[in-house]
Amino acid sequence: MKYFGFLLASALPLALAYEYRVGVGKDETTGRKGMGFDPSVIHPQAGDSIVFEFRSGVHSAVQSSFDNPCVSNGGFNSGVFTVSDDLAVDAPGLPISRVLVNGTESLWFFDEAGGLCYRGAVLAVNPTAAQSEVVFKENAALPPKPATTTSPAASSTSGATATGTPTANSDNVSSGNNSNSSPGTVNTAWAAVMGALFGGLAVMA
Ligand SMILES: *[C@@H]1O[C@H](CO)[C@@H](O)[C@H](O)[C@H]1NC(C)=O
Ligand SMILES: *[C@@H]1O[C@H](CO)[C@@H](O)[C@H](O)[C@H]1NC(C)=O
Ligand SMILES: *[C@@H]1O[C@H](CO)[C@@H](O)[C@H](O)[C@H]1NC(C)=O
Repeated sequence: MKYFGFLLASALPLALAYEYRVGVGKDETTGRKGMGFDPSVIHPQAGDSIVFEFRSGVHSAVQSSFDNPCVSNGGFNSGVFTVSDDLAVDAPGLPISRVLVNGTESLWFFDEAGGLCYRGAVLAVNPTAAQSEVVFKENAALPPKPATTTSPAASSTSGATATGTPTANSDNVSSGNNSNSSPGTVNTAWAAVMGALFGGLAVMA
């Protein structure tokens, strides 16, 4: 059942690509110039695109991660846009930056140039129950973590962010010590299930 739904969903949207227009530097509650993204949550499908539209001030849209909302994960970066204060909030011809959505996994963005990520200048794309836009915003309010986590989005893009010594607040991050569980302790019943699953797949391949 699950597989059928997945295949169906991934086959359909090709012909129906949609643009999600997201204001940067626009307060979604007032509709006026302000902090953050309008809207701050969107649910695009693969093949859709996100069009960031920059309002007055200095703004950028930068991809981050759920756990570390205010630090680039090395993914999409719109670059910095500076828009005159003279322009009305929805003036025609505002500068835009476009990013294609390639899958249905969650994507996370923040306004790096605007500098108010910690106050909630963030965008959640396809959040889930386990990784919700509400907790994403809560994470944004926490001090940024050193780039050592292995979140799915950030794992493959270890780039130029290593800057030497860790920062002063090396408190034990709440994630506990699940990062290096030894393979020897894997529950054998679980291993058997996984073995059956992947064994079956391997035979088909
Ligand atoms: C989707 O793929 C295109 C082409 O490879 C890439 O430019 C874009 O950044 C990708 N989108 C995301 C959100 O990673
Ligand atoms: C962090 O964990 C280590 C080892 O468990 C412990 O010695 C240290 O006191 C902890 N630091 C804080 C700030 O909790
Ligand atoms: C991780 O958990 C193990 C087993 O519960 C414990 O012995 C170890 O001290 C923990 N390490 C840290 C860094 O908390």
